[in-house]
Amino acid sequence: MEPLILCDNLVKIYKVADLEVVALQGLDLTVAPGELMAIIGNSGSGKSTLLNILGGLDRPSAGRVLVGGRDLLKTDDAGMVEYKRETVGFVWQQSSRNLIPYLSALENVQIPMLLAGRPSRERREWSNELLEAVGLGHRRTHRLSQLSGGEQQRVAIAIALANRPPLLLADEPTGEVDTATAGVIYGIFRRLVADYGTTIVIVSHDPGIAVRVDRVVRIRDGRTSTETVRRATATADIANPEGEGEHAPVHGTHEEFTVMDAAGRLQLPREMVEQLGLGRRVRVELDGSQIVVRAASDGSTPNGAISTTADKSSVPPAAAAPAGKRRWWHRS
Ligand SMILES: Nc1ncnc2c1ncn2[C@@H]1O[C@H](COP(=O)(O)OP(=O)(O)OP(=O)(O)O)[C@@H](O)[C@H]1O
Ligand SMILES: [Mg+2]
Repeated sequence: MEPLILCDNLVKIYKVADLEVVALQGLDLTVAPGELMAIIGNSGSGKSTLLNILGGLDRPSAGRVLVGGRDLLKTDDAGMVEYKRETVGFVWQQSSRNLIPYLSALENVQIPMLLAGRPSRERREWSNELLEAVGLGHRRTHRLSQLSGGEQQRVAIAIALANRPPLLLADEPTGEVDTATAGVIYGIFRRLVADYGTTIVIVSHDPGIAVRVDRVVRIRDGRTSTETVRRATATADIANPEGEGEHAPVHGTHEEFTVMDAAGRLQLPREMVEQLGLGRRVRVELDGSQIVVRAASDGSTPNGAISTTADKSSVPPAAAAPAGKRRWWHRS
């Protein structure tokens, strides 16, 4: 299947006075249509930078970024306006960024449709359906100022979907709500994926988000470093009879992989590097079906080794890794 999002060696450099900040340094990412995935990482790792580029709010400095087949580096300003209106919806941490406080929930959801010139009947029907979808049908005539923070954030989700974009981006959408409300919002995301086939990318600080989504990609220093994938098992179902009903976390087995880029670069987990006292130089050896990373025995570092074993399903390490298929290194 064609990915909906493809980032290849994406670079973003901010220039502030004479200083250059490299916010993204060769980031690779693919997201399939209908995926519900999260991006995590420390503060300053480049999460918002990536999301703003995907949302058409910022331009990359180099590399490639395609969304729905559209090359965002080659799209002109008029194309970007169209892209932001048709292809992508955005939800921010502060829901107020999306909303007009003195209008009702219904009116707020209709504004983007009005701007896009949709007929009034469609506006009415779809805004009602969307507010039902986010569980706010009974609050639709309330003014935004009369809604709680969590409810406002749900209206913001409905607004972002007003023009039926295939992609929804959310930058820390649960950053300002309590845990229970966050659970409700994650449940809504899952239902939107199931009902409308929307692809959803959520930026979060929360390492526990893995149980809420299909895949978690960790960004470290402007690059994708590891990803955690939920195995498709019978238990990984959205309907969970116990606990929070459809808003319950998805239980399944999670496996963490280290991401290798097309040039064969990967980031060794810091704890392992520290544990073995690896220095700037290491020895890399092929040992049967595994690659062994060993401290260089030049006297400067203690001896130690990390070995990476190829999955049984993978090709032998000597064969070239096909681009885009980078999940075959087990952390062992
Ligand atoms: N407009 C800007 N001008 C200059 N530097 C910027 C700008 N935006 C971000 N940066 C820098 O780029 C780097 C990545 O920032 P970004 O906002 O993407 O991080 P983040 O992962 O979203 O962090 P947080 O979790 O704190 O939101 C940081 O070093 C930041 O200071
Ligand atoms: Mg951020």
